[in-house]
Amino acid sequence: MTTPHLDAPTTDRITAAAARATELTKVYGQDETQVVALDAVNVEFQPAEFTAIMGPSGSGKSTLMHCMAGLDTITSGSARIGDTEVTTLNDKKLTRLRRDKVGFIFQAFNLLPTLTALENITLPMDIAGRKPDQQWLDTVVSTVGLAGRLKHRPNQLSGGQQQRVAVARALAGRPEIMFADEPTGNLDSRSGAEVLGFLRTSVRELGQTVVMVTHDPVAASYSDRVVFLADGHIVDDMHSPTADAVLDRMKRFDAKGRTS
Ligand SMILES: Nc1ncnc2c1ncn2[C@@H]1O[C@H](COP(=O)(O)OP(=O)(O)OP(=O)(O)O)[C@@H](O)[C@H]1O
Ligand SMILES: [Mg+2]
Repeated sequence: MTTPHLDAPTTDRITAAAARATELTKVYGQDETQVVALDAVNVEFQPAEFTAIMGPSGSGKSTLMHCMAGLDTITSGSARIGDTEVTTLNDKKLTRLRRDKVGFIFQAFNLLPTLTALENITLPMDIAGRKPDQQWLDTVVSTVGLAGRLKHRPNQLSGGQQQRVAVARALAGRPEIMFADEPTGNLDSRSGAEVLGFLRTSVRELGQTVVMVTHDPVAASYSDRVVFLADGHIVDDMHSPTADAVLDRMKRFDAKGRTS
């Protein structure tokens, strides 16, 4: 898969970021309980790129992903998925956007225990009354390494396999962008490595766009780029990260007493 050349004078559609936040501000609560979770954040996520978001607890990582995926309202600014301004959509259009263009992987896998792995993977499309693209589904299932496990129920799968089902479910509808909030947070290191390897493969071989929150420098080293958040601001941007470089950057947060 070729990545569009970002400097080339091609159409907007090709050069557009997969997602973009502009002066995105999110304030929770009012008066003395007010928390500025995001303070005029500007960030772009490029198509077919794997971006990690890191930063101390409470720095706004989950809030940024929720606002950009249309799962939470914003206070001011703009959040776009491709060409679509997410923040002004009505409920119906927002539901459709979340269903058709955005994949979201939560830390808890959110699999239905009574359904098989395959039924869990196709559930969002079944609910939408959409027929899965069988060829794409086969590609996702084989890339994620679940071909022999499709008839198993979640309690018959390891933690890593369950998370891979959640990843496959998020990918099955061919979202334009996939957000993953600490997808390896509950996994042992081997299962975590499986999921991270798969996310990277989905970017490299399937051309997916992935944005992942993690606290783990090793997990971040699977990405192409790390965006660092602190106190609702983007404070750094690192390309081709190594675990050591990320760890060094994280230590500087600690030195400033920014971790909570
Ligand atoms: N629903 C809410 N109501 C009030 N404040 C909230 C709410 N959700 C988040 N916050 C506050 O917004 C700030 C950012 O929270 P957020 O969940 O985005 O942090 P995070 O970087 O994801 O942290 P963690 O690494 O612990 O998951 C925090 O100070 C948090 O207390
Ligand atoms: Mg969070």
